[in-house]
Amino acid sequence: MNNRELQSRLLRAIPGGAHTYSRGFDQYPQNAPAIMQSGAGGYSLGSDGHQYLDFVMALRSVNIGYAEPVICDVAEKYSRQGNNLSRPSYVELEAAERLIDIINSVDMVKFAKNGSTAVTAAVKLARGYTGRDNVAVCAQQPFFSYDDWFIGSTVISKGIPQSVQAQTFKFDYNDIESITRLFTERGSELACLVMEAAALEHPAENLEGQAENYLQLVQRLCNQYGVVFILDEMITGFRWDIKGAQHYYGITPDLCTFGKAMANGYSVAAVAGRREIMELGSIETADQERLFLLSSTHGAEMSSLGAFTATLDFMHENPVIEHFWSTGSKIVNAFNRLSAKHGVSERFSAQGVDCSPYYTIVDEHGNNDMAMRTLFLQEMVKQRVLMPCIALCYRHDEHAVNHLEASLDSALEVCALAANNGIEEYLQGPIVKPVFRKRN
Ligand SMILES: Cc1ncc(COP(=O)(O)O)c(C=O)c1O
Repeated sequence: MNNRELQSRLLRAIPGGAHTYSRGFDQYPQNAPAIMQSGAGGYSLGSDGHQYLDFVMALRSVNIGYAEPVICDVAEKYSRQGNNLSRPSYVELEAAERLIDIINSVDMVKFAKNGSTAVTAAVKLARGYTGRDNVAVCAQQPFFSYDDWFIGSTVISKGIPQSVQAQTFKFDYNDIESITRLFTERGSELACLVMEAAALEHPAENLEGQAENYLQLVQRLCNQYGVVFILDEMITGFRWDIKGAQHYYGITPDLCTFGKAMANGYSVAAVAGRREIMELGSIETADQERLFLLSSTHGAEMSSLGAFTATLDFMHENPVIEHFWSTGSKIVNAFNRLSAKHGVSERFSAQGVDCSPYYTIVDEHGNNDMAMRTLFLQEMVKQRVLMPCIALCYRHDEHAVNHLEASLDSALEVCALAANNGIEEYLQGPIVKPVFRKRN
């Protein structure tokens, strides 16, 4: 069956044709495989029969590599032990205690199957703890949850009550003024502040002559205004540092959330944090008013929690974190060197935090250039590379980096020609679109 037929079957059966919008057909050039069949290490096999060097890594959920044998073995062992039992399992206790051991701010943890659920649970805890309704989120960070409290603050607010939309406020990253302003106006109504430690850049140092970095200032302001500080470590966790970006940047959030890379692609997420807040979801304190915190049939799935403990073991035994930082830096340098070689460095550049870098493609006015992005992705697909983002895994080895460099060289050469001669004759399909847009 060809790509077009597969795509139309996907769209007929599944709204959006995939289970995250970032996997949708509107995110990839027409020549990309509509379906991926399997993955091994840093590569995955497309429905077109080709092996692709994969820099999406299942939306950053696979941080060691696809089908890493020691992790699969542990997951399989637990699935053969019943996979999900009628009361808590040993591996559930072990997974919780190990997360508590490794993340300094964490006294208690509750597992879930996906990140949105975990972040929403953190917001609920904050609301219960403070008795306040409103939420502050970082404007430059694209995603925290598919739930109404967050999606209501994006352009795709259809289906979300106005009253819910009115409860979420935005502040700017690395701009302490914007938080001070928000807290001065609304501090007493805010239950929590939700952010990632870093996405596009590191937290600023020495803001307004302060010894603390930006995140430490945020923490101080949250304490001062009684706002619960929620750090979403879905992407940064188990990537910036094995103890989280919170350790890397020297902060102690009240609550934090993990997911994605924690179990090398198996479905585990977590809301975790200070006992005093987490305990609102407990049942043993006599007469305490109850907060219904995450209750999920599959939250205790043993194969996934086993995969989490095996991923942790793997990370203790191998220089995974060091690999992210050094490989990311190599890729940023190669990208920028090759865009300069082809005379397009004004328009194609890689930057960001080395362990999780990103690239931008802009037009002559500095605006995102979606047509050129499509051409770049299309040419990378011809070189058998999927790279709408740069998500690294431990199995992206030297061979993979060499493959990437050769591919970038060819793709950027074509893009440079298109920049000079007009893109139309090079582009072979529709232009990709941003996920967050009001209309299809
Ligand atoms: C920072 C952040 N938080 C939360 C989520 C939601 O995670 P999930 O897709 O597992 O629900 C994501 C997913 O992209 C994310 O990037």
